[in-house]
Amino acid sequence: MSDALAQIDQVSQSARDELKAVRNAAELEQYRIKFLGSKGLIKGMMKLIGTAPKEQKPVIGQKVNQANAEIESAFNEVKQNLSQDPSGDRDYVDVTEPGRRPQVGNRHILMKVVDELTELFGRMGFSVATGPEVEDDFHNFVALNIPEAHPARDPLDNFYLESASRQGQQLLRTQTSTVQIRVMERQKPPIRVVIPGRVYRPDTTDATHLPMFHQLEALVVDRNVTMVDLKSTIMQFVHAYFGPQTKVRFRPSFFPFTEPSAEVDVWFEDKQRWIELGGCGMVHPNVFANCKIDPEEYTGWAFGLGIERIAMRKYGIQDIRSFVENDVRFLKQF
Ligand code: FA5
Repeated sequence: MSDALAQIDQVSQSARDELKAVRNAAELEQYRIKFLGSKGLIKGMMKLIGTAPKEQKPVIGQKVNQANAEIESAFNEVKQNLSQDPSGDRDYVDVTEPGRRPQVGNRHILMKVVDELTELFGRMGFSVATGPEVEDDFHNFVALNIPEAHPARDPLDNFYLESASRQGQQLLRTQTSTVQIRVMERQKPPIRVVIPGRVYRPDTTDATHLPMFHQLEALVVDRNVTMVDLKSTIMQFVHAYFGPQTKVRFRPSFFPFTEPSAEVDVWFEDKQRWIELGGCGMVHPNVFANCKIDPEEYTGWAFGLGIERIAMRKYGIQDIRSFVENDVRFLKQF
């Protein structure tokens, strides 16, 4: 009997001593497992009751229960104190600390520019049209008056796909002009649309070229539409978007699907040079014929501008590669 009682005293004593040494929640947990856990020393003491002779059971039982209660209450007290102590306890919660805000992303600058452009042209009476990025030979070339042997079809200048459709070989579209055709196939004049979209060319990457970029196409078809409408619309757009002082110039150019054709440049103040925004011109009669619109009755104009170049001019971005490098420090600015 005295053996059992001595053992209980010994466990109680070491429980008291070890509790004094506990400094943090991790140590307290170790302590709990050692003494109060299901395989802990207290449970071990409980076993003494079972093995004791019958007449001794009440005395030993009472002593074990008393020791258990003391240890548990001392343990709970320490636990309570630790949870109020900010030093070194992981369970401690400082309710006065400001919450951590989740990082909220923002729309990509190019998508914002697309919104600004479609909104601006919307105010000028244009609606928005879209078309597929995987195109066929017919919409990318044939209908745009680009004949079989034309250098624009060179495999080195296009991302051809292995698959083919009823309308010929497939490729990633090289220009949003393809959507001019799709619009004219499904809608008869008057037409007044802008077409923002992604296009692909195997160009060498540099400060003003990417292999995947965006264009903003416009197409106007009606009776008595002239080159003057085209020029004045572009001038209006440039002055509204970049500011009334912005210098624009038109250079004669060539595109198979427009005649006459021109290239539009704007003056980049920070670079002190002209940068080409895109091409434009009067819709070629062959293109109308390919879309079953009578070129004797209707005329039209179109343009296709590089959206990255527009964004660079507007927001003073020096290198076109910044748009695709996904550097959050760059993207967060806008
Ligand atoms: C065209 O793509 C014609 N479809 C434009 C057009 C539409 C003419 C309607 C007449 C009527 P061009 O290949 O020049 O034209 O490209 C237009 C603009 O896209 C360029 O001026 C430039 O701003 C932009 N661009 C062209 N290649 C790249 C590139 N690799 N990276 C970034 N922008 C580019």
